[in-house]
Amino acid sequence: MKRTCYAGQVTAEQIGQEITLKGWVDRRRDLGGLIFVDLRDREGIMQIVFNPQQVTGDLMAQTEKLRAEFVIEVTGMVLKRDHVNEKLATGEVELHVSKLTVLAVSQTPPFEIKDGNNEVTDELRLRYRYLDLRRPAMQANLRLRNQVTHEIRNYMDASGFIDIETPMLAKSTPEGARDYLVPSRVNAGHFYALPQSPQITKQLLMGAGFDRYYQIVKCFRDEDLRGDRQPEFTQVDLETSFLDEDEIQEITEGLLASVMKATKGIELPLPLPRMTWTDAMNNYGSDKPDTRFELLLTDLTEDMHQLDFKVFSEAPVVKAIVAKNLADKYSRKEIDKLTELVKQNGAHGLAWLKLENGQLSGSVAKFVTLSDLTKLKLEDNDLVFFVADKLGVANNALGALRLHIGRTQGLIDQNKFNFLWVVDWPLFEWSEEEGRYMSAHHPFTLPTADTVEFLTADGSSEDSDLRKVHAHAYDIVLNGYELGGGSLRIHTRDLQEKMFTALGFSKEAAEEQFGFLMEAFDYGFPPHGGLAIGLDRFVMLLAGKDNIREVIAFPKNKRAIDPLTQAPSPVAEKQLDELHIEVKID
Ligand code: AMO
Ligand code: AMP
Repeated sequence: MKRTCYAGQVTAEQIGQEITLKGWVDRRRDLGGLIFVDLRDREGIMQIVFNPQQVTGDLMAQTEKLRAEFVIEVTGMVLKRDHVNEKLATGEVELHVSKLTVLAVSQTPPFEIKDGNNEVTDELRLRYRYLDLRRPAMQANLRLRNQVTHEIRNYMDASGFIDIETPMLAKSTPEGARDYLVPSRVNAGHFYALPQSPQITKQLLMGAGFDRYYQIVKCFRDEDLRGDRQPEFTQVDLETSFLDEDEIQEITEGLLASVMKATKGIELPLPLPRMTWTDAMNNYGSDKPDTRFELLLTDLTEDMHQLDFKVFSEAPVVKAIVAKNLADKYSRKEIDKLTELVKQNGAHGLAWLKLENGQLSGSVAKFVTLSDLTKLKLEDNDLVFFVADKLGVANNALGALRLHIGRTQGLIDQNKFNFLWVVDWPLFEWSEEEGRYMSAHHPFTLPTADTVEFLTADGSSEDSDLRKVHAHAYDIVLNGYELGGGSLRIHTRDLQEKMFTALGFSKEAAEEQFGFLMEAFDYGFPPHGGLAIGLDRFVMLLAGKDNIREVIAFPKNKRAIDPLTQAPSPVAEKQLDELHIEVKID
C-alpha cells in the first residue's frame, strides 16, 4: 500500500477516511484486550487502535509481537477519539486498524527514544546517533537548521550574492588553529590542508570580479574542542568588493533579521548596537560581551592607589564588580571557589568586601573604607569583588567572574536575543604562550589609515607600538557567543608584505606561503571585505542549546572521535605505502 500521509499530520478533517501510515512503534499498551500503539514518524505521533471486536484473531496475534522501534505499515479508518489528548497535535483522532504489516523488527534499543531522558550519556547518544536523532527534539533541531540555511540562501540570492564552491583540498589558510592534512598519493611527501576557512580563495574570487560571493561551507580546524567548537563546522561565508564596513554590516544585519523573523517570528530592531572592542573589554571584561545583564566592571585604580595596601596601591590597575544584593548568597567557601575561578583566568587573587548593616567585612576590610568606594554607590547586602593586576588580566578574570555570577544567580533573561557588533579591534594581540604578537583575526585584515604607521614597530615585547594598530574588523556577538567575524582586507602587495613582516614572517617564508595571493594583488585587485558566521553556533542559540553537537547530525566527541563510526581509525599498511607515509607513534 502507498502511504496516504504522515502520522503526525492526521487531522479531524480526515475522520471517516481510510488511510495508510508508515512509521515506528513509539509505545505499545495493552488495555484489557484493546491494543494501543503510538505510531511515530517525522511529523509526530498518532494513536492507533487494534480492537479485537473489529479485527481478526490473526491480526490481534500479530500485534502481540509489536515492540518499540518496530517499523510498521497500518491501514485503517480515522475515528474521533473519546478522550481528546490535548498534548498531541493529532489528539482528536485515532486510527482503527484493519491491516498491519511489519516492515522491520527492532532489538530493544540501548535507550528509550524520548526527549528529556537524562540517564543517557552523551557518548551513548553519539554511539547510536541514528537512534538519538529519532527523538522529536533532535528532529526539530536539524529541521530548524534546514530552515535557517533555506532562509539564508533566499536572502543571499535576493541580495545578489553568487554561491561559488571553493576547494576542500587546499593550501593552508591561517586562522589560528592547526590544519587537518591530506597526503597526496601522486605527489610524494606533499600534503593538502583542509580549509580552516575559504578566506584566501574568497578573496581571489573578488580579484576575479564576482563582486558578491557567498557559500555555506564546511571548515576544518584542529583545536581543543569545547561546547561551541567542533573540528569540522559550517560557516556562512561571504565576501564583497568595493563596500565599506557599514555596508557589509548592513547586509549581515539584514541576513540575521530575516533568519530571526523566519525562525522565531522576532523583528530584530536594526541597526544592531555597536560597541568598541575597548569598551567591551573595559566594561564587560570580554570581547564577546553578554549584554543580557549588567554587572559591569568598574575601574577603581585611582582611588585604590591612595591606599596603604600594596596589593592595590602598586598594581597597574584595580578593577571591581558589584554583585548587587547578593552578599547573603555567598559564604566564604563559595567565595573561595570564585577565587579559584579568577585564578584559572589568570588573576593572582580575588579580594572581596560585603556591605551588611552599614559595615564592611571581607578579605580587604582592614585596608579599604566605604569612603574609598564612593564610585561604586554601594547599598546594603552588596558584595564587591576586586582584581588588582595588569589591565588585560583584570578584565579577563572579572569578565569570567561576571559571567559565572550572571549565570548562577539567574541574572540572564533566557528569552532575549542580544545581538551586538564589536568594532574597532586591535590588529594584533599579544600571545603569552608564544611570547609574540599575533593576528587578532587573520593576516589579511586591513589596518586603519590613522594607525597603520605603527605597523612597522618592533613587535618583540608586549609594550610594542604594534598594539596601537587598529583594524577594520568587526565581530557579531549573540548572547555572549562570538557568532561571526569579518573585516576589510588588505589588497595591495606592499601592505600585505608589511603585515607578514610584523607577524614575524621572513620575506622568503611569506613569499613561499602567500606569494600567489600577493601576485594576484599585482593585477588590479579591488578593495574588498566580508565576514563569516558560524552556522552551528547560530542554530544552537536559536534552538536554545548550549552545545553545537545538538544541531549537528554526526558530531565528534570531546576527543574529536566519532563514537559511531570510530573515525579516526588506523588504515591498512598498503594504503599508507601508497601515500608514502610511515607511522611513528611515541
Ligand atoms: P573566524 O575564524 O572568526 O573567521 O570564524 C568565523 C566563525 O566561525 C565559527 N567558528 C566555529 N564554529 C564551530 N567550531 C569551530 N571550531 C569554529 N571556529 C570558528 C565562529 C566564528 O565566529 N575567514 C574568517 C572570516 C572572515 O574574515 O571573513 C574566519 O574564518 O562562529
Ligand atoms: P594579602 O594581604 O596578600 O593576604 O591579600 C589580601 C587579600 O587580597 C586576599 O583576599 C587576597 O586574595 C587578595 N589579593 C591578593 N592579590 C590580589 C590581586 N592581585 N588582586 C585582588 N586581590 C588580591
